[in-house]
Amino acid sequence: MLVLGIETSCDETGIALFDSGRGLLSQRLHSQVEMHRSFGGVVPELASRDHIRRVIPLIEEVMTESGCSLSELDAIAVTSGPGLGGALLAGTSIAAGLGLALDLPVLPVHHLEGHLLSPLMGAPRPQFPFVALLVSGGHTQLMAVERVGNYRLLGETVDDAAGEAFDKVASLLGLPYPGGPALSHLAASGRADRFALPRPMLHSANLDFSFSGLKTAVATLVQRLRAEGGLDSRTHADLAAGFQAAVVDVLAAKSAAALAHARCTALVVSGGVGANQLLRSRLANDGATRGYSVYFPPPDLCTDNGAMIAHAAVLRIGAQPGLLDMANVSFNVRPRWALGPETP
Ligand code: KG4
Ligand code: ZN
Repeated sequence: MLVLGIETSCDETGIALFDSGRGLLSQRLHSQVEMHRSFGGVVPELASRDHIRRVIPLIEEVMTESGCSLSELDAIAVTSGPGLGGALLAGTSIAAGLGLALDLPVLPVHHLEGHLLSPLMGAPRPQFPFVALLVSGGHTQLMAVERVGNYRLLGETVDDAAGEAFDKVASLLGLPYPGGPALSHLAASGRADRFALPRPMLHSANLDFSFSGLKTAVATLVQRLRAEGGLDSRTHADLAAGFQAAVVDVLAAKSAAALAHARCTALVVSGGVGANQLLRSRLANDGATRGYSVYFPPPDLCTDNGAMIAHAAVLRIGAQPGLLDMANVSFNVRPRWALGPETP
């Protein structure tokens, strides 16, 4: 089963070829970060236009590198939500056109399902059931995953997503967009214990998160320190380290609570913030001392990519073989789309 995956939900054009037997054959990613940087964030219209320019040439590169031809494809998988409406339309309309031209089924894939199944592309491979910690720029969720297609929301952020908080605090510290990687790089040279920052909802009775109060606490400190003339480069690094430690503390504690709640011993971490080294080492250490296993996607597959979309489709088809017969040429995008047990 050979599937072409197309991902255009935000600011990365991801194309990949995934085979059910041989795994990931080839993938290409074009990041729009440089294009959006001067605006301090993603400009949706520019994102859509760039996806339109990139998708076809990247498909050609992937096909050439893999040595496969379009006639060997069994299906096309495309992210149909959630994400930016125009950006989603760019990928889905090209997928639908290709499907019609090549007489291939086109499968709509939920972006978060792509992320949450992506650790199954790594080794060792987690076994079902597991708890998934999904930490991206738009989402922070804990899910109980029984099997492919069965996802139960255990908790989520009530305000900012973890990645969004990283991006906003990075901007407060004068770091370029996207802030997550830059902030964690700066944090490596800082002292996490210099400033006492809050750990929002750490001891709440539920599995929800909140990060906007933490962001406000950093903003207030930045304002005060600036007024006092104490905002030097060392202080920037200490603030970054303190913020990162607070986020990681909360994510680690809630993940442990979710595992206990779901009576699971496997934690799967995915989404862009899953590339954070402190989070990875903290969860791995917690798992070793508390008796659970932690699985991450390969670091290059943490952020948005086409491989996770093709891979999710291959797993979906494997779990429900009639799925390909149900695919039709009409398409729709869902900029807002909750992932749940009934997600088609
Ligand atoms: O999953 P993703 O690529 O896109 C969404 O679906 O949102 O996640 C992007 C987010 C951004 O907020 C980015 O700042 C964050 O992931 N991120 C990181 C790191 N790498 C990416 N956050 C913290 N540490 C990192 N190393
Ligand atoms: Zn994503």
